Amino acid sequence: MTEVSPNWNEFYGQEVATKLSFFSKEGRIYDCLFSQQFDRALLDRMFAVADKMRRIAQTKEGADFLSSLLSHKRAMLYFVQPSTRTFLSFLNACHILGLKASEIRDTNTSSEIKGESPEDSVRTFSSYVDLIIMRHPVPGFVEKTAWVMNRAKRPVPVINGGSGKDQHPTQALLDVYTLTSCLKDGVDGKTIVMVGDLKRGRTVRSLSYLMKNYKGVRLIFVSPPQLKMERDILDFLSRHLIPYRETDSLEPVLREADAIYMTRIQDEHDTAGESRNVDYSKFCLRTQDLAVIKKTCIIMHPLPRRDEIELTVDEDDRAVYWRQERNGMWARAALIAHIFRVEDQILKRA
Ligand code: NCD
Repeated sequence: MTEVSPNWNEFYGQEVATKLSFFSKEGRIYDCLFSQQFDRALLDRMFAVADKMRRIAQTKEGADFLSSLLSHKRAMLYFVQPSTRTFLSFLNACHILGLKASEIRDTNTSSEIKGESPEDSVRTFSSYVDLIIMRHPVPGFVEKTAWVMNRAKRPVPVINGGSGKDQHPTQALLDVYTLTSCLKDGVDGKTIVMVGDLKRGRTVRSLSYLMKNYKGVRLIFVSPPQLKMERDILDFLSRHLIPYRETDSLEPVLREADAIYMTRIQDEHDTAGESRNVDYSKFCLRTQDLAVIKKTCIIMHPLPRRDEIELTVDEDDRAVYWRQERNGMWARAALIAHIFRVEDQILKRA
């Protein structure tokens, strides 16, 4: 392992690439914090594990086998920012593997209300559990937890279930799992159109990072001018020679898309109602658009949606967001299996 700064701010300020080894052990992910931690071989392996688990779980005997794998482990879900899918899919991923889970969903119900620092609170969890899965409104807080836990006497792995407007790596994992399984011949060579609040949407940020693992992918970013993709992501794409284009007009690019990734406006990140004046109606997918897009194009959304996708679009076979949601549980179960090194047992099972 590389020399690790004992000073958090110094550590946090480093390039992600230089920090990755601190969050892995013996060549595998230990804390899952950033999309940049996944390479192609690992992604393919995660998806093979997820596929295999789904098949195994179809029988009671198979489901019992899976839930015996980690029945000696306990997980803590610390979700102090609203969540439905990510929370439930992680909880059920734990159930699939037999991990017992406890939860905190509101700092008002923890000792933070008595003045305990969030750092002391998370340290407390490590006394009781073997895995922390965390969603937090402050970018960097999940990383800080992993940094604290890794240096503790009893280290505990940490998974990022969404950190402010920064990253949501397991969403990106399930998104690529969905792209891989729903697109004919996989992700290589495809054109992916990401639509909406790209500035503050952590899902599109994390998904963009993962694109470095695929050949010949083109990205088209469609957003209101005030909510464009941030420079750090664009620089990352340029460094990895991934072509991208930016526009504020959805209609003309629809026919180019192999996948359309819709997102909602992230107005919880407004500090002074900045997005109140954005005309989001131009960043919505309607039934009439279905006639324009390719027959093989898939429509995705991390959910929850507001009006970005007309309800009638749900009936179209190309709308895969409900499948995408279910994929989340299996992709997250595969990640947990990887962290606890039981994926070989899953892959080897007949
Ligand atoms: C996303 C999130 O929380 O960032 N939701 C999710 O995890 N499925 C997207 C969103 O809230 O818009």
